[in-house]
Amino acid sequence: MIANTEATSLVSLLKGAAIPTIVDTYDRAFTYLRISVTDLCNLRCVYCMPEEGVAWLPREEILRFEEIISVVEAAASCGVHKIRITGGEPLIRKGLSDLIAMIANVQGITDLSMTTNGTLLAEHIEKLKTAGLQRVNISLDTLDPEKFKRIARRGELTDVLDGIAAAESQNLHPVKLNMVVLKGVNDDEIEAFASLTNTHRVQVRFIEVMPVGEVRDCAAISNPGTHTAGTEVRSRIEKRFGGLLPAYTNGRSSDPARLWKIPGSTGMIGFVDAMSSAFCARCNRLRLTADGKLRSCLLQGGEVDVRSILRSDQGSKLRQRLIAAFRHAAYEKPEFYTLGSGSAPGAMNRIGG
Ligand code: 5AD
Ligand code: SF4
Repeated sequence: MIANTEATSLVSLLKGAAIPTIVDTYDRAFTYLRISVTDLCNLRCVYCMPEEGVAWLPREEILRFEEIISVVEAAASCGVHKIRITGGEPLIRKGLSDLIAMIANVQGITDLSMTTNGTLLAEHIEKLKTAGLQRVNISLDTLDPEKFKRIARRGELTDVLDGIAAAESQNLHPVKLNMVVLKGVNDDEIEAFASLTNTHRVQVRFIEVMPVGEVRDCAAISNPGTHTAGTEVRSRIEKRFGGLLPAYTNGRSSDPARLWKIPGSTGMIGFVDAMSSAFCARCNRLRLTADGKLRSCLLQGGEVDVRSILRSDQGSKLRQRLIAAFRHAAYEKPEFYTLGSGSAPGAMNRIGG
């Protein structure tokens, strides 16, 4: 006999299946939308932006909150349940917690998170949590204040650490820490980052640097022989802490990070092997850029303009036109990205990582 709770979840599962989803040419269903809310940032990370003279988008090209909500509602009506807010630095955008609350109120959105550099998080965390934010990914490339100045070139490491502590104190678990591994710059800190998981309930994610943004044309990065591959990071961690154990989290298989644990640790270790192992087969996401373009792949492929749809008077047809734009973007999603195809994107801060 099926217990009542199981029967209920089966019914909701079947109801869920009734929502028309958007499936791409390779049978991947689109259930996750990443939204860049601004291209502005208070840091200038070496792999993302030039130190001076960034060409910002004209302000009138940035989507307004109501426009973002129209896109979220259309996405939710065709099976998207997960939203991640990105930037630039999302907390630079005025009134962000109002937008979070608006998104949290859209029917069907059950997972709402944000990627941030953490510098402004401590001062905003309470409002964000009250608005409905569930989790945060915080960029943290070093634990050394001097090195922070070399990598991020602005801001203070202590502010990021305060942001991490604030997220933990608001129970936004698991707090995910993104470390972009830069050979000869911060790769000597791999073990120190891994050991954070021994004492904290965090998920430390080691990211292979990708040839986008400032490092787009950098041969040292596109050549796997000369950058620090995830496998190398892993073997260094295992040398210090012993063999890692696989960590499973609710079968969230679309997560690009493969998750592991140091035996007996409280936290987890993730490897985002963006370059050496394509995770495209599990990719269920589309991206909305700050200026209202849909991208089906971070590294390759074209963009579908939804801002022009939002700003032309569509009346009752708006929802349908937006869904058609999702279908168009999903249709363009490559099976796997191919680097060097000449179509890698420019500014990472517009697309949102
Ligand atoms: N390669 C890898 N990761 C990058 N990020 C930004 N630029 C790059 C790059 N070229 C990361 C940031 C942040 C996330 C949004 O993307 O560190 O954690
Ligand atoms: Fe800002 Fe993130 Fe780019 Fe660093 S990587 S400059 S924090 S947008």
